Amino acid sequence: MNSREIADLNHKYVIDTYGKGRALAFVKGSGSRVEDADGKTYLDFLSGLAVNGLGHCHPKVVEAIKTQAETLIHVSNLYYIEPQVELARRLVENSFASKSFFCNSGAEANEAAIKLARKWGNTEGGGPCIVTLRDSFHGRTIATITATGQEKFQKCFHPLPEGFRYASLNDLKSIEAVLDEGTSAIMLEVIQAEGGVNVATREFMTGIRRLCDERNLLLILDEVQTGMGRTGTLFGYERYGIEPDVITLAKSLGGGVPIGAMLAGPKVAETFQPGDHASTFGGNPLASAAAVATLDVMTGAGFLENVRELSDYLFSRLGDLKEKHGFIKDVRGLGMLIGVEFDSPVGTIVGECAENGLIVGTAGANVLRLLPPLTTTREEIDEAFDIIGPAVEAFKE
Ligand SMILES: Cc1ncc(COP(=O)(O)O)c(C=O)c1O
Repeated sequence: MNSREIADLNHKYVIDTYGKGRALAFVKGSGSRVEDADGKTYLDFLSGLAVNGLGHCHPKVVEAIKTQAETLIHVSNLYYIEPQVELARRLVENSFASKSFFCNSGAEANEAAIKLARKWGNTEGGGPCIVTLRDSFHGRTIATITATGQEKFQKCFHPLPEGFRYASLNDLKSIEAVLDEGTSAIMLEVIQAEGGVNVATREFMTGIRRLCDERNLLLILDEVQTGMGRTGTLFGYERYGIEPDVITLAKSLGGGVPIGAMLAGPKVAETFQPGDHASTFGGNPLASAAAVATLDVMTGAGFLENVRELSDYLFSRLGDLKEKHGFIKDVRGLGMLIGVEFDSPVGTIVGECAENGLIVGTAGANVLRLLPPLTTTREEIDEAFDIIGPAVEAFKE
């Protein structure tokens, strides 16, 4: 099938929740490149929305999936699962956490964190309420759209669950204003990725940690997008010199295979007891083996240093672009999670880039979002700028 035929079948048989635009269907990928069903190749600087941290079909991940698929694809969580415990061990050894829970997606990982905070709050903490931030994004289930501080994701889906209050990023006072005896946790992203690539300041993060310590609250970080090397450290919280009580992961964790995780620190590692939570596929052998391989690559010598170097280079190239064009308002982000804010909607730039063989995305109407694979190269970055440069030039014409 060509891209048009695939798009037509999609419109006929798939419920259209994504509002897909141009007829573009990718059928093959390797490293930073993807090929569409019409044989055209693209440089992929969106990485499946931060899922393909190791690029497409990383050989180590492919090998792990093949080996595991020939051995054992699934067993129930009623039994012990070797790849799952290997994954849990690696996550714990490389983080603040004491224990892990596995599921299948970012929203599901956040559901686990919300339930954990509720149980802890109802039994040991102040109560069931969770403070989240405006412009956040935590997923599309009923609880996670409620945690998401954006009305546009909530409208039409009322009644929403009770027990969520909203504050503002980088405004500690707004958090203090909504805390009361019923609060158990503060939940946020260190970079609001979907919300416009808004970066938490160091002062804000250390202030929240202090507040959580003073008031006996859990600090839950949604690292679904910022985790797994995306910010240039394995987890985003490491950029801030603080430790959370809980983080949630998904996206890049499985190198492209769906898997989510909630990591819990010592304060709450024993809060869930048998029967409190479950997920049939959570941490199954296939997904766990893919995640073990992914994590092994990311924690390999020099991997994250290289991400930081490439990030510096990307930011310097974007800085040059900003100097040149007054309509670029801001360049922000950390590591390989980058937003370029323009003074008006950037849809035409995204279209122009795709036309010329580069996949990029948006984060809100005016923000161009770049999520290159962490395995990209300087040469590929230069190649991307050969496409972005003219697209930006043409922006105001
Ligand atoms: C920070 C954050 N949390 C949660 C989610 C939801 O993840 P999923 O789509 O895997 O449920 C996303 C997805 O974009 C995200 O960026």
